[in-house]
Amino acid sequence: MSEKRSLKNVYSIKTPEDSINLYRSWASSYDADFARQNDYQSPLEIAKYFDKYSNNEDTPILDVGAGTGLIGECLNLNSRKIDAIDISPEMLNIAKLKNCYSKIIEADLTKRLLIGDNHYGAVVSAGTFTHGHVGPDALDELLRITRPGGLFVLTIHYKLFKKAGFDTKILELEGSITKPSFHEVRVYGNNPDKDHGNDKVIITVFRKK
Ligand SMILES: C[S@@+](CC[C@H](N)C(=O)[O-])C[C@H]1O[C@@H](n2cnc3c(N)ncnc32)[C@H](O)[C@@H]1O
Repeated sequence: MSEKRSLKNVYSIKTPEDSINLYRSWASSYDADFARQNDYQSPLEIAKYFDKYSNNEDTPILDVGAGTGLIGECLNLNSRKIDAIDISPEMLNIAKLKNCYSKIIEADLTKRLLIGDNHYGAVVSAGTFTHGHVGPDALDELLRITRPGGLFVLTIHYKLFKKAGFDTKILELEGSITKPSFHEVRVYGNNPDKDHGNDKVIITVFRKK
């Protein structure tokens, strides 16, 4: 992996504009350069937990910060539909090639989304609630566009869970969501990176009330 795209660089971005710039240059090699080289497990873990908690009515699904579409590739969709949303058009172009997404939506998750209330039956996400990417306030908008009963299965980087206020946000949402379950899993399988090779995410699962 080149220095420009090292894990350190990914974790040091700060704004939506930084994301657009980083992923513009990275999109074409992301799957090989990041996912395979780092033995990236989060999309597989999301698919595993989605399988465990979902039913066939949890549709359509929104993949939040879908990137190149690794979750779409891993999910066992049955007859369910999945849409991809991301700020990076270049990442979404790669996701489109995977032929699993019904709709590709370019949007900034830190802003109001041009999606109607109660539209989605489920929200999944890997690698998006992480350093410098998307913070806990985006959950308000995601809840708005999800219908009552809709399932959420999200990774939240373990180091940010408290630091970025996901814990407080989840408590604040107590009246709007079912009691969440938390599952700590490793982000990477066999990865010797000394700073991030042992990173974890907290897979957070709940339904909108
Ligand atoms: C580490 S990648 C994860 C991609 C994919 N979910 C995966 O697991 O491979 C993070 C993604 O979040 C997107 N992203 C970052 N900030 C965003 C924002 N404000 N709005 C929408 N997408 C954003 C990036 O463009 C990038 O595709």
